[in-house]
Amino acid sequence: MRVAMIGTGYVGLVSGACFADFGHEVTCIDKDASKIERLRQGVMPIYEPGLDQLVAHNVRDGRLFFATEADEAVREADAVFIAVGTPSRRGDGHADLSYVYGAAEEIADLIDGFTVLVTKSTVPVGTGDEIERIVKRRRPDADVAVVSNPEFLREGAAINDFKRPDRVVVGTEDARAQEVMTALYRPLYLNATPILFTSRRTSELIKYAANGFLAMKITFINEMADLCEAMGADVQQVARGIGLDNRIGSKFLHAGPGYGGSCFPKDTLALVRTAADAGRPVRLVETTVAVNDARKKAMAHKVSEALGGQVEGKRIGILGLTFKPDTDDMRDSPALDIVPALQAAGAKVQAYDPEGMKEAARLLPEVTFLDGPYEAAEDADALVILTEWNAFRALDLDRIKMLMNTPIVVDLRNVYDPEEMREAGFTYASIGRA
Ligand SMILES: NC(=O)c1ccc[n+]([C@@H]2O[C@H](COP(=O)([O-])OP(=O)(O)OC[C@H]3O[C@@H](n4cnc5c(N)ncnc54)[C@H](O)[C@@H]3O)[C@@H](O)[C@H]2O)c1
Repeated sequence: MRVAMIGTGYVGLVSGACFADFGHEVTCIDKDASKIERLRQGVMPIYEPGLDQLVAHNVRDGRLFFATEADEAVREADAVFIAVGTPSRRGDGHADLSYVYGAAEEIADLIDGFTVLVTKSTVPVGTGDEIERIVKRRRPDADVAVVSNPEFLREGAAINDFKRPDRVVVGTEDARAQEVMTALYRPLYLNATPILFTSRRTSELIKYAANGFLAMKITFINEMADLCEAMGADVQQVARGIGLDNRIGSKFLHAGPGYGGSCFPKDTLALVRTAADAGRPVRLVETTVAVNDARKKAMAHKVSEALGGQVEGKRIGILGLTFKPDTDDMRDSPALDIVPALQAAGAKVQAYDPEGMKEAARLLPEVTFLDGPYEAAEDADALVILTEWNAFRALDLDRIKMLMNTPIVVDLRNVYDPEEMREAGFTYASIGRA
């Protein structure tokens, strides 16, 4: 199969490289010329474990190409994927579909012969209908099937998620499009991955329902964590105790500082707006959004409490800035709420993150970025673990204690054991553990 991927961000690049690895011929296209130039030189625009080797291997084998112009690749493609961003629209929280519709217009002008036009971007219900209208308006002669194929990969585990997904969802009732999509994902049939064919609108909603549910699950355990703190219970044991019930499942039950990232915040908000417009408000998701926003803000207060209520003039070391480990993605990271709140209260912030500092430097002015976790602990009045990178899981605690001004650790990811930390001489605060 020949594939053109419009948009070479997290999703476009990972999907494009994985489709190439499946044996298809893929051209990844992006308007950002410097990104394409770097990719041609083998430099990855994002940090994702294993991606550089996967890209290099498929480029070398002549299956993966990069381009700034869509023309030839789209003309020759059996399937054209739209994998551009759908950020929150300023002001109202609806998904901003201008990149998606812009891409659809460009593609419409180029397609030649039967082409499956696949939306991989996360888009609200009905977006596929509008893409179809755009294409038909510009090219009444076009032989095209517009399909929804939402992506469920997680940053940090994206390649494995793409190649060994729990399921693939394909929204189309067109038999020819089903054939093309089946051929594209054929290698997954070998692992017996369920491929779910649904209507286009159903497929679009599945993606939002999945993210809404997961965001709700995290938020639920976060509220349980607060309750545990008040009641003298342990949220990790509560999570295990409920997670062993197959009806609940153990994943996404790690209490923390509130969800962030490139998807949950914007997708929950867009779902809330879509549902309100349809006159069927999704109150559980509305509450999830509100509780999570409040939680991220409350985390600075937790740090302040650990410091006895006084942050002014204090030096605070931060370990981890990205919204989760194994990515350099800072979009909607809890750090973007917590760090400015600490600064506003008068703290000096020094931080270390293994991959996120370049992006963080753009978003968090006045932070001193350092070379490692021990440097971030030096002279600190408190050390805050914000992201659970593996590099922070086995720190030399004696060395940390010696370096710090006062041995106060606020562990917002429950990486360490409270008992051990106390024995090591730290004043230690964590999430949902008395
Ligand atoms: N990041 C994730 O973990 C993830 C997971 C699942 C789904 N998604 C969804 O996938 C979509 C893409 O997300 P992302 O994180 O990859 O975004 P991104 O911002 O990393 O990448 C989007 C890319 O599209 C390019 N682009 C925009 N318009 C273009 C055009 N007309 N032609 C060519 N290139 C164009 C941009 O330059 C950018 O490089 C979003 O809808 C997102 O919700 C993301």
